Amino acid sequence: MRSTLVRQFGDPEQVIELVETGRTEPAPGEVEVEISLAAINPSDLIPVTGAYRARTELPFVPGFEGVGTVSRVGAGVHQLKPGDRVVPIGASGLWQQFLVRPAEWCFAVPDDVSDMQAAMSYVNPLTALRLVEALRTHFGSLEHRSVGVTAAGSAIGGMLMKLLALEGSAPTAILRSDKSRHRLGEGYPIIVTDGGGVPAGTRFDAVLDAVGGTLAAGLISRSISPGGTFIQYGALSGVPVPQAAIAGRPDVRFAFLWLRTWVHSAGREALEAAFARSFAGLRDRLFASPVAASYPLSRLDEALAHQADPLRNGKILLDPRC
Ligand SMILES: NC(=O)c1ccc[n+]([C@@H]2O[C@H](COP(=O)([O-])OP(=O)(O)OC[C@H]3O[C@@H](n4cnc5c(N)ncnc54)[C@H](OP(=O)(O)O)[C@@H]3O)[C@@H](O)[C@H]2O)c1
Repeated sequence: MRSTLVRQFGDPEQVIELVETGRTEPAPGEVEVEISLAAINPSDLIPVTGAYRARTELPFVPGFEGVGTVSRVGAGVHQLKPGDRVVPIGASGLWQQFLVRPAEWCFAVPDDVSDMQAAMSYVNPLTALRLVEALRTHFGSLEHRSVGVTAAGSAIGGMLMKLLALEGSAPTAILRSDKSRHRLGEGYPIIVTDGGGVPAGTRFDAVLDAVGGTLAAGLISRSISPGGTFIQYGALSGVPVPQAAIAGRPDVRFAFLWLRTWVHSAGREALEAAFARSFAGLRDRLFASPVAASYPLSRLDEALAHQADPLRNGKILLDPRC
């Protein structure tokens, strides 16, 4: 079968190999899933660079998100059967034709959710829901709370803007350039930083940050009201949030949110409830992600080059069947 493999850390375009490997028989409690579409997310590429080398074992097959059809079931699996469409989660490995996972880590996809929607139903929708839940825990109610969202032109940024508005809060999109302004739709305040920070005097009750570096440092130091919160969930700038900025604001609650931590402690029932919300959000376009292109896995090099293109206008998907 067609697969990908990372044998050494480095630039994803250099070190992710296309390989042919054998299929694995599903053991008791496991299912084999033929992957029909997998997403390329920043969180797939960061481990490839070696940023998390202490907790990343080589070699590995990348890909945390996608959808497929159950092709074989191991002994004792009664909840799934061949032909069922599922989203398999809990470990990487989606960038291959056939994936074997424990049945308990596979979530059935409703018939009215397309493969394309299901392939993006996990990482960003569930993280956006967790981030909003974290704000609700901090403030009690989000009504009229001002929330700054950095990298608001990203797939998850767009979801956060819509979710926050639905919660009655007042989200402001923080963009690095005008390029993705059109993705946000009408009605949101937008700040374009153009390599700098937000204007002096800007005040938020909370900031949801996926950028880090100097933008995050400036927001923490000058733009969050006392008693507010700063939640970091990404570092697109490649630079962590400077500790000095955090230490300088003891009146602001600083938190990290990683979906993976929640997923591995939440339990099946909470995950099923989260997927139900994600599928509902996909139906009504709350969680819709623009798609820039879909590539056969055999053209992985083109897909990765497109992913790295600063002018990319949406998600890149991979079809491991071809
Ligand atoms: N913690 C978690 O568990 C978790 C889960 C999901 C996602 N995330 C994080 O969320 C972030 C976005 O993920 P995604 O899937 O939504 O990505 P995406 O759709 O690929 O979006 C990336 C966009 O972010 C913007 N961007 C990139 N570098 C930037 C920078 N240095 N400064 C400001 N904006 C920048 C760009 O927008 P423009 O087009 O406007 O330039 C780019 O198009 C990533 O950091 C990812 O790791 C974290």
